[in-house]
Amino acid sequence: MKLETINRQFAIDKQLIFIAGPGGLPVIQFKTRQASATVALQGAHVMDFQPRDASPVLWLSRLSHFKPGKAIRGGIPICWPWFGNHPADSSKPAHGFARNRLWEVTATHRLPNETLQLQMTLKNDTETRQLWPWHFSARLTVTVGHELEVELQIHNRDEKPATCSCALHNYFVISDINDTVITGLEGCRYIDKVADNQPRLQQGPLTITAETDRIYVDTRSDCLIDDCGWKRRIRIAKQGSRSTVVWNPWQEKAAAMADFGNDEYRSMVCVETANAADDRITLAPGEKHRLLTRISVEPLC
Ligand code: BG6
Repeated sequence: MKLETINRQFAIDKQLIFIAGPGGLPVIQFKTRQASATVALQGAHVMDFQPRDASPVLWLSRLSHFKPGKAIRGGIPICWPWFGNHPADSSKPAHGFARNRLWEVTATHRLPNETLQLQMTLKNDTETRQLWPWHFSARLTVTVGHELEVELQIHNRDEKPATCSCALHNYFVISDINDTVITGLEGCRYIDKVADNQPRLQQGPLTITAETDRIYVDTRSDCLIDDCGWKRRIRIAKQGSRSTVVWNPWQEKAAAMADFGNDEYRSMVCVETANAADDRITLAPGEKHRLLTRISVEPLC
């Protein structure tokens, strides 16, 4: 659909508009008195969020690809219908196909308190059925106010049960990984993907000093990222999730990725709201699942 047509149908004044973004990819731009945000139609991918009078909250790689069919590096990619590698076929795309496909805008709303909402939908087609043979609809609702709320709803429209894993793969921008502490995971068990998927226990708050790739299991807790350099706290609240993924590729892995600046690992951390590992979801025919992440910032005293 042409931008002009989408704008006619869905734009809200000058506060929510559809424009050509980086690489010509169509994006939705939010600009209100509360915050600004950008969402790409490809992947229903939240690319940035910045509350008024605050600095940006989400990290976006300066080397990210902005090309049709290529995942954007940063922001909030949607990993679905599988998280990580496909459980049985490694030739299928990592983290599923939702982040690489063009979603359709289905609604926009003005809510009280200068809050705006956008809904996008992805439905099965011949290509998705080759990768994942189920009929489905997925809906992403992005609500932009002084907080950012992102809700993924998955609906199994097939006649057979569907098992999937997923994540809202939040990338956060931080002053320096060495000045950052993550709390909310103390005492949780985790699978350490850097150490052959060994199970381990988180002792105390988490500081990152090397490559880190962990699935924390059995946790419904909020996480806090305390950024001592910028004196701010990012709060990540969640619903519909019993697992949290923490990822930082560190120097060597970052350097090996074409869409990741060599030194950029210092200024990012992923704290992902997930249904991963034994927290996979099985949906009966007609059943729905909601996965929600709510992101806010506060000063760190
Ligand atoms: C994390 C995974 O969620 O995403 C890591 O736990 C993975 O294993 C990372 O490397 C990035 O994945 P991708 O496919 O975007 O490079």
